[in-house]
Amino acid sequence: MTTKKLLLLPGDGIGPEVMGEVSRVIEWFSGRNGVEFETETDLVGGCCYDAHGVAVTDETIEKAKAADAVILGAVGGPKWDGVDFSVRPEAGLLRLRKDLQLFANLRPAICFEALADASSLKRELVEGLDIMIVRELTGGLYFGEPRGITDLGNGQRRGINTQVYDTFEIQRVAGVAFDLARKRNNRVTSVEKRNVMESGLLWQEDVIALHKEKFSDVTLDHMLADNCGMQLVRNPKQFDVIVTDNMFGDMLSDVASMLTGSLGMLPSASLGDADKDGRRLALYEPVHGSAPDIAGQGVANPIATILSFGMALRYSFDMGAEADLVDNAVQAALAEGCRTGDIASEGEKTLSTHEMGSAIISQMEALSA
Ligand code: IPM
Ligand code: MG
Repeated sequence: MTTKKLLLLPGDGIGPEVMGEVSRVIEWFSGRNGVEFETETDLVGGCCYDAHGVAVTDETIEKAKAADAVILGAVGGPKWDGVDFSVRPEAGLLRLRKDLQLFANLRPAICFEALADASSLKRELVEGLDIMIVRELTGGLYFGEPRGITDLGNGQRRGINTQVYDTFEIQRVAGVAFDLARKRNNRVTSVEKRNVMESGLLWQEDVIALHKEKFSDVTLDHMLADNCGMQLVRNPKQFDVIVTDNMFGDMLSDVASMLTGSLGMLPSASLGDADKDGRRLALYEPVHGSAPDIAGQGVANPIATILSFGMALRYSFDMGAEADLVDNAVQAALAEGCRTGDIASEGEKTLSTHEMGSAIISQMEALSA
């Protein structure tokens, strides 16, 4: 038996509810196929601010660095609206990403057959959709300096954020996108705003240079970010892998989520560079937020977080067959008509968070029997 250490950070809002179901899935896998999962739970986000006055503590950052993978629920909520920027819930997530150097954020948007009618687009546009958005996660507007709000002294204030990218940041995330494309349909679309931003022009030039040097077997296209938003809702199946910066990736992945039926369906993996032993720091989280409007009711969709654990099996533990089992169990539960409120059609029976977890685990049992 090898032991893998998982740090669970449920966070705020629906985070603890969806993490509860993931814990059951982790327990189910633990001890099978020679791998035991050891879990530890800690605070991040608003709950951490309430307990410690910061959105994540130094100790938790150290635990995250020592873990084989981190699984996060969601952070934030109206309760912390007035809290200072530097310690608000989102700052905890941003610090985890930055301190662990998780520069590559993989956001797959896959439309499950059974949900093609839950999408806001027509079935024929989304049926069979399988795209991967690779979002740069530790640079750009989210972290650029200078930043802040200054008082101009004339009754006016100024808000500043800086979009800044260096060649190595662009090329390391583009490298991840090219590598992924080779295992998929071998196509990368690089997305920026080179028509108005120098950082976008550099982005394009650096991607082209890397492509020429190491990945010329992969088909590469370039698209302006506004056009990409439009193309995602016009004809999403034209894409295979999209690579883009931190801010555009944030927006485009929310757009892509609705193609799959619900924001409650999208998992993500945030990966760092492999060290010399091949060990990679990694954090897995759903793309959705803390959904304060439904928190505490036991009705949230746990699928995005369960699929995020599936990504951990695939990308951190090289357990592709087990990851496929998670994906197939979700697909089978959906095919049997299991629906949480966010993916149910009008009049359809809906399951609670816990019932959806149980339905997926029964499918795992059946598929592995
Ligand atoms: C996401 C979220 C985060 C982001 C927030 C919660 C800081 O929207 O992961 O997409 O903007 O990156
Ligand atoms: Mg977002």
